[in-house]
Amino acid sequence: MTITDGLLFIREWFRHPRSVAAIFPSGRALASLMTKDISVRSGSVLELGPGTGVFTQALIKRGVRQQDLTLIEHSSRFAHLLQTRFPNARVLRMDAADLDRDKIFDGVPVGAIICGLAFLTMPQEKVATILKAAFDCLHPDGSFFLFTYGYRCSVPNGTLVQLDLQANRVGRTFQNIPPASVYRIRRR
Ligand SMILES: C[S@@+](CC[C@H](N)C(=O)[O-])C[C@H]1O[C@@H](n2cnc3c(N)ncnc32)[C@H](O)[C@@H]1O
Repeated sequence: MTITDGLLFIREWFRHPRSVAAIFPSGRALASLMTKDISVRSGSVLELGPGTGVFTQALIKRGVRQQDLTLIEHSSRFAHLLQTRFPNARVLRMDAADLDRDKIFDGVPVGAIICGLAFLTMPQEKVATILKAAFDCLHPDGSFFLFTYGYRCSVPNGTLVQLDLQANRVGRTFQNIPPASVYRIRRR
């Protein structure tokens, strides 16, 4: 993490504490765990809530091309930084809950979804709306990866059942502030 990224993150957290929901960007160990099953073979990848782009950078390191990335970020400051940092990626400054309404993928499914959104601070209905729209964009064999600082998956069990999804823990890293677990969500 650069000092500039750290300061921008803290500033954004002061402005929008519930949606930014962390005072530091994720570390490299968590980025590595989040992206470990993604490669150039995954095709296009959708990232929700990229912040300063720690996971985006890890995806590119794993071979995903910038032009295969769609980054959906609500904060205009983060979105501007992302577009400067990843000029060939598609950066959309929008609420992930509008994914369905805006029909972003035009019927072509994405291979994987990386989610940096803070589901624990969102109303359950919004989490369900985002997940439903995300799975509508995702290839039938694709996976949705998310992280949480808690000990359970941050998507409530009722929402998983309602959407016919299942979550499995990929791993946990203590080399992050705070320590975090990564979950993979797939269709049942
Ligand atoms: C916990 S931070 C994670 C940032 C980054 N992925 C990381 O791990 O360092 C959550 C990010 O999601 C963005 N965000 C929160 N709610 C959002 C929404 N409804 N739609 C799009 N982005 C959102 C925030 O602006 C912030 O960048």
